[in-house]
Amino acid sequence: MSEDLHAKLVSLEAENAQLRKEMRALRREVDKSDQAAATGEVRLRLAYFSTIQALVQAIEAKDPYTVGHSEMVARVAVAVAQRLDLTEDECERVRIAGLLLDIGKIGISGDILTKKEDLTAEERKVLETHVSIGAQIVEPIIYPWDVSTLVYQHHERLDGSGYPERLRGDDITLEARILGLADSFVAMIVRRAYRDAHGETEVLEYLRREADRTFDHGCVNALQEALSTDAELRAQIDRFKASV
Ligand SMILES: [Fe+2]
Repeated sequence: MSEDLHAKLVSLEAENAQLRKEMRALRREVDKSDQAAATGEVRLRLAYFSTIQALVQAIEAKDPYTVGHSEMVARVAVAVAQRLDLTEDECERVRIAGLLLDIGKIGISGDILTKKEDLTAEERKVLETHVSIGAQIVEPIIYPWDVSTLVYQHHERLDGSGYPERLRGDDITLEARILGLADSFVAMIVRRAYRDAHGETEVLEYLRREADRTFDHGCVNALQEALSTDAELRAQIDRFKASV
């Protein structure tokens, strides 16, 4: 080999070695930034879920009848949403909204929330404001999901008999229809200060009769299917009923 070629080869090998060194350094930098991003995301998620948990505990402290209710509503609503083929992201939105549906009751007088007798028309109007108070509370907190709309619409009913806007049919988002059904189902199967618990068969018969009038037919079918096929959901409902 000529001296010229030999010198070129030595120079190329030196360049290659330098490039390999730079690549290793770059890889280490990429690994470090991936780890930092992952740690940041985990921290963000932890802070996010702690905020939701704190809000749930705040409403449970104010209204003892809601203890465990929101978690059960979230679980039932997700089971329905999954059977209606909602995406993972949409199911997560339903879950978060289920946990925070009644957060607006923080702004309602405890006398109204725990009253054993029937509410007066005036008191009922005050209680109904929990949907708008709740929507305002969650709007700046919950990101990236629009949970506020679901909280605002969870007492709307297909025939326009709900509140606060008396929306009808498809004007109520599907997720809000799912949540309204889950909320009613969970409320009916447990005892309240003013009435005994209703049996599940009785509740399902009622929901069947109401399908397409106040509750979405597809959502009722999905709920019935989830109750008869999801053993884990069944066990959670039984534990919940035993705990209240
Ligand atoms: Fe509510």
